[in-house]
Amino acid sequence: MNIALIGSGGREHAICQKISQSKIVNKIICIPGNAGTAEIAENITVDVLDFKKILKTIKSYEIDMVVVGPEEPLVKGIVNFLNKNKIKVFGPNKFASKLEGSKAFMKKICKENNIPTANFKICKNIRDINNFLKKNTFPMVVKADGLAAGKGVTICKDKRQLLSISDQIFKGKFKSSNKIVMEEYLEGEEASYFIIVDKNSFKFFGSAQDHKRVGEKDKGPNTGGMGAYSPAPIITKELEKKIINKIIKPTLNALKQNGNVYKGFLYIGLMIKRNEPFLIEFNVRMGDPECQVIIPRLKTDLVKIFQNSIQDRLYRTKIKWKNEKCMTIALCSKGYPGSYKKNILIPNFDDLRLKKNQIIFHAGTKRNNNNLYSTGGRVLNFTFLGKNFFNIRKEIIKVINKLNWTKGFYRRDIGWRIKR
Ligand code: AMP
Ligand code: GLY
Repeated sequence: MNIALIGSGGREHAICQKISQSKIVNKIICIPGNAGTAEIAENITVDVLDFKKILKTIKSYEIDMVVVGPEEPLVKGIVNFLNKNKIKVFGPNKFASKLEGSKAFMKKICKENNIPTANFKICKNIRDINNFLKKNTFPMVVKADGLAAGKGVTICKDKRQLLSISDQIFKGKFKSSNKIVMEEYLEGEEASYFIIVDKNSFKFFGSAQDHKRVGEKDKGPNTGGMGAYSPAPIITKELEKKIINKIIKPTLNALKQNGNVYKGFLYIGLMIKRNEPFLIEFNVRMGDPECQVIIPRLKTDLVKIFQNSIQDRLYRTKIKWKNEKCMTIALCSKGYPGSYKKNILIPNFDDLRLKKNQIIFHAGTKRNNNNLYSTGGRVLNFTFLGKNFFNIRKEIIKVINKLNWTKGFYRRDIGWRIKR
């Protein structure tokens, strides 16, 4: 079969590589892809939000199945659009994507179904904010309601900061948000739990922990993710049961009861506090860089899993995992997540020699005259498998140092919470 994969990050390179290993795949196109996907698929430059152009491309390449990586096309309804045009797509529809696209929608589902999450108030104006302030103590969390490319959350230490950021959001700092979700601050350890869902059932699709802050010791501004590791050591069998019974089942049932079945990947972002899971966020896709550490551990044919989800036959699918652990470290362009230069040469890349369990997923890269250039903030994901996280990290750092890209930086402390 022929597959179209939408997206251009490290997540999509990881998915693309796994798809390319399937025996039932002939051709893969990536819209738009990166230098990594270009080695195993055909990259086609089309805007991921230009649904009509995507449809035209899909028809001309006789695509049998579309897989959507990032959230924006999902939230904007690409699944509804392609389904209406009789194209098979893996991913949630526009309504179900509100789980990520609107924090107010997600919180409403939590409230109506007793799902453990931070106390909150949906605020439409400064008066609402002041009411929440009276009943809560600092720090407090301010969230723009809609998609904000990972930049919509601020943890506020005092009233001055809180009022200033709230004012900016009400004045349109994030176009997609005219509401604010104010939240109690949850102390604990973060972890992410993933499932794949269809009309009849859901299956576990890995666990991971990532590091969002740019600096070592988790300091500095938030990024898309500086590194991750899987499985998440903090998620025990006991905790997993609580996540399923207190968060996953009530959410999927609530959507179903409204006649809106969830299909696709679901990312459950958690804060673990005294062995109890609290929902921080839902994402309607795989995480990036979490996907890069989960997919290499997958033994089962990913395309068959996608097919079974589309056909609501996931209950017949046995998803098998390797016992090995996996870690990824993102090599970023200096300046990220602030402003950084693009089109910087990465001179030694093609001289790197990797072992069997070592993969480099490309994120923001392109090739020009056989040379590799950076095109984004997160550039390369060094992703290694092994028995022990400490050794894996050591090996990754050795290879990053061998590359010696003077225009890049990375965190050397990915996985610092791991005890053994
Ligand atoms: P979100 O976009 O909702 O995932 O938030 C981004 C990040 O902000 C999360 O990964 C957490 O690190 C942090 N965060 C969000 N909500 C809370 C909360 N209520 N308490 C503590 N940290 C939070
Ligand atoms: N790594 C966080 C995310 O994908 O949203």
